[in-house]
Amino acid sequence: MAEFKLPKNSQVTKGKHFPAPAGAKNVRTFKVYRWSPDDDANPRVDTYDLDLDACGPMVLDALIKIKNEVDPTLTFRRSCREGICGSCAMNIDGTNTLACTKAICDCDGGKEVPIYPLPHMPVIKDLVPDLSHFYAQYASIRPWLRTQSAPPPDRERLQSKDDRAKLDGLYECILCACCSTSCPSYWWNGERYLGPAILLQAYRWIIDSRDEDTGARLDDLEDPFRLYRCHTIMNCARTCPKGLNPAKAIAEIKKLMVQRRGL
Ligand code: SF4
Ligand code: SF4
Ligand code: FES
Repeated sequence: MAEFKLPKNSQVTKGKHFPAPAGAKNVRTFKVYRWSPDDDANPRVDTYDLDLDACGPMVLDALIKIKNEVDPTLTFRRSCREGICGSCAMNIDGTNTLACTKAICDCDGGKEVPIYPLPHMPVIKDLVPDLSHFYAQYASIRPWLRTQSAPPPDRERLQSKDDRAKLDGLYECILCACCSTSCPSYWWNGERYLGPAILLQAYRWIIDSRDEDTGARLDDLEDPFRLYRCHTIMNCARTCPKGLNPAKAIAEIKKLMVQRRGL
């Protein structure tokens, strides 16, 4: 994990103000976190007044407009613009969500829309967090079908409809990290606690009827930190932009742990 080097006396300071074009009638203000750790002593918040009559409806549209027309130095991630890739995850109006599926008109914190990077992650620049540790944790659960039996010679490994249905609410996860970065347990123990996103993904493979490594998967999670730092605070389920419930998946893993101990 990249070291988080916020200077000891660091404070978020007031930044530059970019006013709306003359004659704009439908103006909304965006307060955007700016920080280049290599160049700036402290983070700042820049203010952009945009004419919404000349802007698309989503927060990502506003960010793209700022970058294209107002301030090309602003840095953020995005790719699909459809809520599928997870790369535009950030903290908007006080909630972790996807900029491409968050409508500007749904930001109800008054005239100003605050936009920050996902909380408690090292910042690479502006709205871009360093997700290296998050991805390493994902790799640690070995997120692929693990089998011991030979595959059928003439077809893929099949599932019943009921077994397939057990993956609903799990396979839709886009690994955006909104849930993990809203979880207080992950904030304080993220080096060792896997967090809600990775645990939901772990459960997705544990519960897959075609997987033949359930015992080893549960062994890997039987640890005071990797699994048991979840205290059912439920921020994860509240914030997931795909409407998933990682806390429920975590509870199901804990239930399986109890069952296999015969308690
Ligand atoms: S569970 Fe939801 S919030 Fe968490 S990573 Fe998956 S899609 Fe994102
Ligand atoms: S329910 Fe568990 S994983 Fe979800 S936010 Fe709370 S502590 Fe974190
Ligand atoms: S750009 Fe892909 S989820 Fe927002």
